[in-house]
Amino acid sequence: MAAVLKGSFYLLGRYRKHVDLVHVSARHMSSKTQVGFVGLGNMGNPMAKNLLKHGYPVVATDVFPEFCKEVQELGAQIVDNPAEVADKADRIITMLPSSPNVIDVYTGPNGILKKVKKGSLLIDSSTIDPAVSKEMAAAAEKQGAVFMDAPVSGGKVFLTSCSPSPGDGQRVRRLDQYLTITKYD
Ligand SMILES: NC(=O)c1ccc[n+]([C@@H]2O[C@H](COP(=O)([O-])OP(=O)(O)OC[C@H]3O[C@@H](n4cnc5c(N)ncnc54)[C@H](O)[C@@H]3O)[C@@H](O)[C@H]2O)c1
Repeated sequence: MAAVLKGSFYLLGRYRKHVDLVHVSARHMSSKTQVGFVGLGNMGNPMAKNLLKHGYPVVATDVFPEFCKEVQELGAQIVDNPAEVADKADRIITMLPSSPNVIDVYTGPNGILKKVKKGSLLIDSSTIDPAVSKEMAAAAEKQGAVFMDAPVSGGKVFLTSCSPSPGDGQRVRRLDQYLTITKYD
């Protein structure tokens, strides 16, 4: 856990100059929009289950079919790859081990950006290199989607950057969108 905390603080330090930091806590969810989920490991699995528990339709994928079983039994639709997730959902959470996985899941041959819809909200909660987050944000922006770098630590979400950089009103609306689809109790 110490390493995880260190990682988060490193990210915050890197972004301090040019982004707003928003510390997000649990909040009532107001809509039941389909949510895409990529990465059903130690962290992603309970997050996806939480969405299902609160009545959100979930479409998900993981490279290991055995990690998809539990959420599938709870009602999630399991698809073959991240592009298919993007084809079915315009709010997507990714929870992946490291930077190369995130690059692959967003920009690979079967990546999210192959099928992403304009206006989609892409929330990456993996703890990764901030430079990679910026690259993914730029790539998402080219497709008309919004990428948020939102690592987690200690049951909290840290929104460290967002692209395209929205004005205040937009930032609040996007943060609100984020809060309506996630819940960390
Ligand atoms: N585990 C913790 O306590 C903890 C706490 C805070 C932050 N984090 C961070 O959260 C992130 C996720 O951690 P975790 O413990 O859930 O990792 P994990 O390895 O348990 O889960 C990651 C999942 O992503 C899947 N994956 C990898 N590449 C994929 C691809 N191309 N397509 C689909 N699925 C793919 C893996 O199969 C795996 O199931 C990491 O960046 C970690 O540093 C972890």
